[in-house]
Amino acid sequence: MSEPVATDAPASVATTDRTASGDTAGHVLDVAGMSAWYGEARVLREVSVGVGAGEVVTLVGRNGAGKTTLLRSVMGLHRHVEGTVTFDGADVTRRSADARAKAGLGWVPDDRGIYASLTVAENLLLPPVVHPDAWPLEKVYEFFPVLHERRDFPGTRLSGGEQQMLAMARVLRMGSRLLLLDEPSEGLAPVIVQRIGEIIREIKGQGVGVLLVEQNVKFASTVADRHYLLAQGQVVEHLDNDEFRARESELLTHLGM
Ligand SMILES: Nc1ncnc2c1ncn2[C@@H]1O[C@H](COP(=O)(O)OP(=O)(O)OP(=O)(O)O)[C@@H](O)[C@H]1O
Ligand SMILES: [Mg+2]
Repeated sequence: MSEPVATDAPASVATTDRTASGDTAGHVLDVAGMSAWYGEARVLREVSVGVGAGEVVTLVGRNGAGKTTLLRSVMGLHRHVEGTVTFDGADVTRRSADARAKAGLGWVPDDRGIYASLTVAENLLLPPVVHPDAWPLEKVYEFFPVLHERRDFPGTRLSGGEQQMLAMARVLRMGSRLLLLDEPSEGLAPVIVQRIGEIIREIKGQGVGVLLVEQNVKFASTVADRHYLLAQGQVVEHLDNDEFRARESELLTHLGM
């Protein structure tokens, strides 16, 4: 991981407001009333989102909307927050990022966090297995044949798409039950984006949930069940994929894309 692990310092807790996330039954992840600050600047305002097991949910919004901050806050990497995070039935709000990873939350950062000097196999094997649902290495290689082919290559020799696959494979091998993916399609050629989409659908088929940050609306509509639109740190729309597709051009305008 490219991030230092956060301390166990408690985050403050605000009143739980679940109205914006709708029906929370069956959700593996529930974020309720999440606000976040950088110094005095408040960049998230009472965001409530939920993800079910085997469900793919996107957070769509223009640059600076607060998407990365929300993922980091869910993971416990950003500590100046209010709100609650419930994962797998447990309130993890006060837990460290390490403890959240052990509970089965897997963070895939936008820079992918690959160790350039280590091989693909070393990148996969370095992080500890933290959860009984961890994928054995054989399953990882079966799912990502290109990583098997490249297993002895150093991180520096991987393409952007291969790095993205390695970053996703690494958290699945650790045992993540829910992936927090920050713009996996960014900077990748359309054919590779398509492959990443197939992989996300395959992961979903394994019962793993995905909270996916995207600016690529077309890509989002090919992989997700539901979408939250984030603008200036607030959820402004919550749409199922049919509504999202029907309003695609309007949303592109709204997002300034
Ligand atoms: N380390 C930081 N210090 C101060 N402000 C920050 C910091 N990181 C982000 N911000 C601000 O917080 C807001 C939300 O940023 P965030 O990175 O979460 O947005 P984002 O939706 O992920 O944007 P992008 O699409 O560019 O990745 C922005 O106004 C940004 O300038
Ligand atoms: Mg971001």
